[in-house]
Amino acid sequence: MARLGVNIDHIATLRQARGGVEPDPVAAAVLVELAGADGIVVHLREDRRHIKDRDLHLLRETVRTKLDLEMAPAEEIVKIALDVKPHMVTLVPERREELTTEGGLEVAGNRESLHGTIALLHDAGIAVSLFIAPDLNQVKAAHRVSADYVEIHTGRYVNAKRLIEQDAEFEAIRQSAKLAYKLGMGVNAGHGLNYRNIKRLLPIQEIVEYNIGHSIVSRAVMTGLQQAVREMKDLLNKG
Ligand code: PXP
Repeated sequence: MARLGVNIDHIATLRQARGGVEPDPVAAAVLVELAGADGIVVHLREDRRHIKDRDLHLLRETVRTKLDLEMAPAEEIVKIALDVKPHMVTLVPERREELTTEGGLEVAGNRESLHGTIALLHDAGIAVSLFIAPDLNQVKAAHRVSADYVEIHTGRYVNAKRLIEQDAEFEAIRQSAKLAYKLGMGVNAGHGLNYRNIKRLLPIQEIVEYNIGHSIVSRAVMTGLQQAVREMKDLLNKG
C-alpha cells in the first residue's frame, strides 16, 4: 500500500489571495494528518508566492508524520533547509514565471553542483529526493549524485491527450520506477495526480509514495462548501 504525502501549498495560495491569515496551512496540516496522510509537503518558492518562512518553521514544530520540503537547489533556500532541518528535501527546478513546477530536474547535466548540495543536506541528517522526469538517464544520474529517493514527475502522463501517449508515459514511469528501485533508491511520484488518473499507476509496486496537492485541495473545497454555507446560514437565522 502506497503512502500519501499531501502538498498544502494551495491552502497558502488561498490565504495569499487576501494577504491575511486564513486559511492557515499549519492548521490544515493538522487536519490532513488526522485524516490519515503519511506526510506533509510544502514548496518554499524563492518568490514566496504561497508558503512563507513562518509556515515552514511552524510546520517543523507541529508536523507529526513527515515534513517534505520541496525547494530549488538555490543557495538561499538551501541555507533555510539546513537551519529548519525538515525530514526530507525534494529538489525541484524552479522558474519564477511558471504556475507550477513544470519539468524535472536536469540531474545528468548538473551532477557536480547537485552532488555538493546533497552532501550538505546529508551532513545535516536530511534525506534527499530529486524530482525527475521518467527518464532512465536521469534515474542513473540521481543514483550517481547519491540521492536517497527520486520523485517521478507524472505531469506528461496526466496531460497526455491520446491513449497512445498515455501508454508511452505510463511505461516510462514504470521503467524509471523499476530502475530506481533496483539501484536502491526510494521511489515517489507526483504532479497533477487526481482521483481518476492515479488508478492506473497503483499496480506499480516500486512507487512507495504519492505526493498530491491540487486535486485534494480542490476536492476539499467542493466537499466542504455545503457545510460552510449551512454554518453561515444558521448564524443568520439565529440573528
Ligand atoms: N510533487 C512535486 C515535486 C511538485 O512540485 C508538486 C507541485 O507542487 C506536487 C508533487 C503536487 O502536484 P499537484 O499539486 O499537481 O498534485
